[in-house]
Amino acid sequence: MIKQIIKKVLPKILLNKWRNFISIKRLKAAYNYDMKRYIKFSDNYSHDSKIKLIGLIIREYHVVEKGLTMPDTRYGFGKDLIIDLIKHCFEYIKLYGKNEIQLVHAIKVILEYEEFHSKQNFVLDTELKNLINKLKGYNIQPSLQIEMNKTDYFKDINNSFPLFSDSRSSIRNFSEEVISIENILKSLEIAKNAPSACNRQCWRTYIFSNKSNINEILNIQGGNRGFGHLTNKLIVITAEIGGFANLEERNAAYVDGGIYTMNLLYSLHFNKIAACILNCSNGIDKDVLMRKVCGIKESEVFIAMISCGIPPEKFKIAFSERYNVEYTNTIM
Ligand SMILES: Cc1cc2nc3c(=O)[nH]c(=O)nc-3n(C[C@H](O)[C@H](O)[C@H](O)COP(=O)(O)O)c2cc1C
Repeated sequence: MIKQIIKKVLPKILLNKWRNFISIKRLKAAYNYDMKRYIKFSDNYSHDSKIKLIGLIIREYHVVEKGLTMPDTRYGFGKDLIIDLIKHCFEYIKLYGKNEIQLVHAIKVILEYEEFHSKQNFVLDTELKNLINKLKGYNIQPSLQIEMNKTDYFKDINNSFPLFSDSRSSIRNFSEEVISIENILKSLEIAKNAPSACNRQCWRTYIFSNKSNINEILNIQGGNRGFGHLTNKLIVITAEIGGFANLEERNAAYVDGGIYTMNLLYSLHFNKIAACILNCSNGIDKDVLMRKVCGIKESEVFIAMISCGIPPEKFKIAFSERYNVEYTNTIM
């Protein structure tokens, strides 16, 4: 009897083992393929192309824009970074010319940085000042980060979609006013209409209200210096990977999670909650630590977190220059 069962079952077990072995092998090959492409085309190992260099310049000037719009801007912030940024701008101009919308914006932001400090009678570092003076030769006007008030910020929440969507920005300044959990839940209720692959709705959210929990998470996150401490509610968004299958869906959780997160940002905006999405792009150690601190399930991956608050009466918004559609679109 037992022999018969073993005879019947064994081939099935072996077959399943074989199938698993083959599918894991194929999955490894797919990740290997992704890795090779990432090594080749990302800006990890060299700035050997126009796109990589401008990407670096955007990353650098964005830090300056953020600094200029902080609730309390620290005078002289980012000196070394701005020196690097200017050098990268010169390198870009030498290699590829100066007709790049993001390059021009980078120069504008650097000039705004100088103007901001000169208005405060703050003397900038000499090396930095000399480099900025060289940039002035290009005859570009300084940018101006956006000054906003609370009423104007939410004035288009019931308007047409182009106006509504254009009125949302990342806000990095919050008052002490408390957001009710009900208002966050109302936003989640709207956001759940997001599309997802086969309607699997892999997103999961965790709402943090406790200040010390929020601070602990945000300290690890790291991209919220100067404003994170003002967060009133923190929403951590994850995606459950249990519903996805095969190598083809290895990134599906991130796609669905990202689409949901954008919908949630709009929903929060609609409910007059100011928000700044924060990355969860973590290396291994940080991922492990973040999982522990946030208490998310092992079967979930981080998508992003959103720092939420009620804006003060007046605040600044980073300009965040956009490319023209002609740059990002190709009609085939
Ligand atoms: C996935 C993702 C991660 C982000 N991470 C951070 C972050 O860590 N800190 C921060 O201040 N802003 C962060 N941002 C906000 C961007 O800087 C911002 O969306 C961008 O500059 C465009 O500006 P806008 O949101 O005002 O339109 C992030 C945005 C996205 C989409």
